[in-house]
Amino acid sequence: MMLKKSLVLTAVACLGLPMVSMAEEPPIEAYKAWTATKDHTIWAPLGGLKGDPAKGRKLAIASAKGNCLACHELPIPEEGFHGEVGPNLSGLASRYTEGEIRMRIVDIQVLNPASLMPPMYKNPAELKNVAKKYVGRTILTAQEVEDVVAYLMTLK
Ligand code: HEC
Repeated sequence: MMLKKSLVLTAVACLGLPMVSMAEEPPIEAYKAWTATKDHTIWAPLGGLKGDPAKGRKLAIASAKGNCLACHELPIPEEGFHGEVGPNLSGLASRYTEGEIRMRIVDIQVLNPASLMPPMYKNPAELKNVAKKYVGRTILTAQEVEDVVAYLMTLK
């Protein structure tokens, strides 16, 4: 019994979801399906939405949202803590196209199933072992994904 319990806890921890608070989240919006090319690129903006880089920068800082700073270094000097779990994202847009960046935000586990980075816009119907309050939700909304992508595209 003890073993089973610890396995469940490990699975929940691996999903990386509990660190995202949904307390102020708006009602669940309809999931906007995306398609990736074989070389891991999502060319079309989610739902055809246009991103706002200033909002994306705020989202990258917000611990209750993408929490990017917990794992990544970013050129955001006013924030004290920058994590080192993932690569430094400075100069990202010189290394990747917009579509490649979108893929990595939406679901990096398509590229690396063992990645510690939570998929920000995976089909909620495909998520397993999700706590009740997260059921049916993506971590970021489609608009938030596009805002973050627009911000990351400024990191040349
Ligand atoms: C729990 C830690 C964690 C969080 C939170 C996280 N990431 Fe990541 N991220 C990683 C790791 C680890 C990688 C390395 C790739 C891998 O795991 O295969 C990565 C890779 C990436 C990459 C690809 C970088 C490259 O040079 O290939 C991008 C872009 C990225 N993350 C953006 C973000 C953004 C934007 C956020 C916030 C919305 C975020 N990440 C949140 C851990 C995290």
